[in-house]
Amino acid sequence: MSDATASEERVIAPVPRITLQAFCETPDVAATVQAAAADRRMQKAQVKVQMGGAPAAVETFRHNPTPNVVLLESYGDRGPLLAQLDALAEVCDAGTRVLVIGHVNDVILYRELMRRGVSDYLIAPVAVLDVVAAVSELFSAPGAGPVGRTIAVVGAKGGAGASTVAHNLAWAAARQLSLSTVIVDLDIAFGTAGLDFNQDPPQGIAEAIFAPERLDANLVDRLLSKCSDNLSLLAAPAMLDRTVDLTETALDALIDILRASTPCIVLDVPHLWTAWVRRTLISADEIVIVAAPELASLRNAKNLYDTLRQARPNDGKPRLVLSQVGVPKRPEIAASEFAKAVGAELAAVLPFDAQLFGTAANNGQMIAEVQASGKVAETFAELASAVTGRAEPKRSKASLIEPLLAKLAWRKAS
Ligand SMILES: Nc1ncnc2c1ncn2[C@@H]1O[C@H](COP(=O)(O)OP(=O)(O)OP(=O)(O)O)[C@@H](O)[C@H]1O
Ligand SMILES: [Mg+2]
Repeated sequence: MSDATASEERVIAPVPRITLQAFCETPDVAATVQAAAADRRMQKAQVKVQMGGAPAAVETFRHNPTPNVVLLESYGDRGPLLAQLDALAEVCDAGTRVLVIGHVNDVILYRELMRRGVSDYLIAPVAVLDVVAAVSELFSAPGAGPVGRTIAVVGAKGGAGASTVAHNLAWAAARQLSLSTVIVDLDIAFGTAGLDFNQDPPQGIAEAIFAPERLDANLVDRLLSKCSDNLSLLAAPAMLDRTVDLTETALDALIDILRASTPCIVLDVPHLWTAWVRRTLISADEIVIVAAPELASLRNAKNLYDTLRQARPNDGKPRLVLSQVGVPKRPEIAASEFAKAVGAELAAVLPFDAQLFGTAANNGQMIAEVQASGKVAETFAELASAVTGRAEPKRSKASLIEPLLAKLAWRKAS
């Protein structure tokens, strides 16, 4: 069947904003994958095609973050391919999906691949649309689950540094963990995400929530402004021409649309306690509470922590971040006492550094752009890794190997 006929007959869902790396062994398959990447349904995906097959993949992911999908071409026989997949399991993050294009029609191999958690096995020669369909099905098949994880960041007090954490966290997820990320500025009247990323888009979140009848995936795509390859922004208009009185469910549709298309969604939640803020926090996959080491922050952080814990008995705990620690001459609550009083572990402690944070804010840059190898940038990278559940590159992935093996059953039968 020619590609043209196939495209008329097959309905293939658009592929979400995922990252895919292909490691091919033959020029034909590499060309097919490259053509698939150019297909309209793969528009949002970031695709990189290289040669070297599974050994190159193993080598690459020893030092680099794993994409959402790894596509391997294997020219060889069953034995070496299975051994290479086991090696790959050691360096891949949990949740990475693996597609294999092989050259042998071997039922035992197919079964072994499925047992190891490989999502699909295609037999070469493959058509362009076969590749597009295989990738699409990873995310659109029944039971595939939502693509995206939402991370809501909220301050225990105004000015605690919540937006700074949200933006730097999103940047680290996109840049250092190679996750396609959208940052959503929910501080509609006063949000600073546009300023912080040096962007001044004409449209943004206001168009999405004030005209719900027009809201769909295409509109959201048009409203996103691109900050870098993997990072987009849904900016707040930061205008006072209208007041922001949202209904409790005003954000539901927008968040569902983003969840269907983007792996990492960082919600910069303003310091408010309205019905829609409470709903946004309770329904997030991860919550980060940012507090300063003083009494009002402590009281509010504890109230937020307890309320959210109670509303989410079956979820992970909110993460507590202390920011602006060590303001000269300011009497402060010690980090350990703060954590004890809230009853939570600290996920991160950020020093007060007026020079560093002030420079970043005024230049529309992230901390890691001002000071790449500093402790603060490292803290944001670690936090991004914790809330996204993905290992940082160039670090031991040992802690992820067990969950990976358990989840995907990528273990050789003993
Ligand atoms: N660790 C820090 N050291 C020094 N300054 C900081 C630090 N964290 C944030 N700031 C600065 O504090 C100010 C407030 O930060 P930010 O806007 O992130 O707080 P917020 O909690 O989001 O505030 P809002 O309540 O307005 O949403 C900004 O000028 C920011 O640059
Ligand atoms: Mg803020």
